Amino acid sequence: MEEKPNVQEEIVEEVEETVEDTAEEIIEDEDFELPKLNLPKVDLSKIKLPKIKLPQFKKSESAPKQTKRVKLKKSAKILLAVIAALILTVVGMLTIPGMVDRSNLKKLGYSEEAIEKIYELKWEGMILEGSLYSDNLNNSITKESFRKEFIDLYLNTDSLTNDDFLLYSKLILKGYEKSDVLSMFSALEFWEMTPLLVFDYVEDVTAYIRDVDTHRVVNSQSAFTLSGNYITYYAETEQTENQGSIETMVNKRYYLSSDYVPGSLENMSVVYASKGLTLNAEAYEAFKQMCDAAKTAFEAKNPVMYASSAYRDYTYQADLYDTYVRRYGEEEADTIAARPGHSEHQTGLTVDIASTTNGGLSKFGESQEYQWMLSNAHKYGWILRYPEGKEDITGYSAEPWHWRYVGTDLATKIYNSKLTFDEYYMLYMVD
Ligand code: DAL
Ligand code: ZN
Repeated sequence: MEEKPNVQEEIVEEVEETVEDTAEEIIEDEDFELPKLNLPKVDLSKIKLPKIKLPQFKKSESAPKQTKRVKLKKSAKILLAVIAALILTVVGMLTIPGMVDRSNLKKLGYSEEAIEKIYELKWEGMILEGSLYSDNLNNSITKESFRKEFIDLYLNTDSLTNDDFLLYSKLILKGYEKSDVLSMFSALEFWEMTPLLVFDYVEDVTAYIRDVDTHRVVNSQSAFTLSGNYITYYAETEQTENQGSIETMVNKRYYLSSDYVPGSLENMSVVYASKGLTLNAEAYEAFKQMCDAAKTAFEAKNPVMYASSAYRDYTYQADLYDTYVRRYGEEEADTIAARPGHSEHQTGLTVDIASTTNGGLSKFGESQEYQWMLSNAHKYGWILRYPEGKEDITGYSAEPWHWRYVGTDLATKIYNSKLTFDEYYMLYMVD
């Protein structure tokens, strides 16, 4: 059966086609203008909308749970952000100043390795605060041998040895202010400071430095003279330690007791000494070997040198000293002869040597034997006790003839140090 056409649908289709056609015409017609509509003005605020009631969810229902979880995530994010910011701030506070410090230490001149060590010692603050730097500290701080207690010394010197540390400590022990010792180490050579261990306490360190400085032209390690007088002889005296030892010290400060007599004195042969002299057995043996070696060195048939004085007891020395005082006065006598108890001759370890070829004791300093002794005596355990150029330190005029036995070990050390025995003893042998 054929379907009956629906009238209503046909009308709608016709209207639609008409509208479409009209719209196409309007679009194609450029002169078309929209008709003006006079619509009534509406006040929107006066329109009352009906209240809409939104559905209320109970806690047990799933929808509200979902909302709350979203809210928690947000606050957690905020919390995390705050924590992260805090961590960043703290890390920043810790690392940024550290980075700045490191770069400032670098600017001062320190190497990366030195900076590591500075941090290990926690010295960065102190060093930066005082802008402290020296090549010596930079180079030494990373070494195994570095001694942190001497940081000031590293900052005031170009290089340091264990002997410097010892001298520094000894000067402090003598009563010098740290700042004075540092000034000395900055301005003076090692051998220009060691005499201070023998001298009286010097009140005016600056004046001492100036005195040393003005004598630099003529002074050397083997001749050290000054304008000032730095020792008051016999002002401070004390009995020496180990009076029986071959290493004992006897000088204007350290004395032997008046009744001290060496235990092992031996009569000396006239081949090696003037008639009737005695000497410590060990020293005598070494003396004979030395005299024989000198004879061989000069290819001589007869002895080339001998002892014109050896052991002298306390009374003998007292008489000798008195003779000099009567002849020259006390001041000069003190530069020539020791007061009783203060003479090395009483140790039995000392000889005054004369040459058989060159006019005896007083001319020994001009002899070839003396020159030979200067280079060889230490090998036999002997040291020159009152060298020329060291009068201000020993307190005696030069005595090329006066030699002291201390054994080969100590003699070699003293010889190599180029110090007088007085300095060497104060630096290395006594507390
Ligand atoms: N001539 C030296 C110093 C002495 O008398 O012991
Ligand atoms: Zn002598």
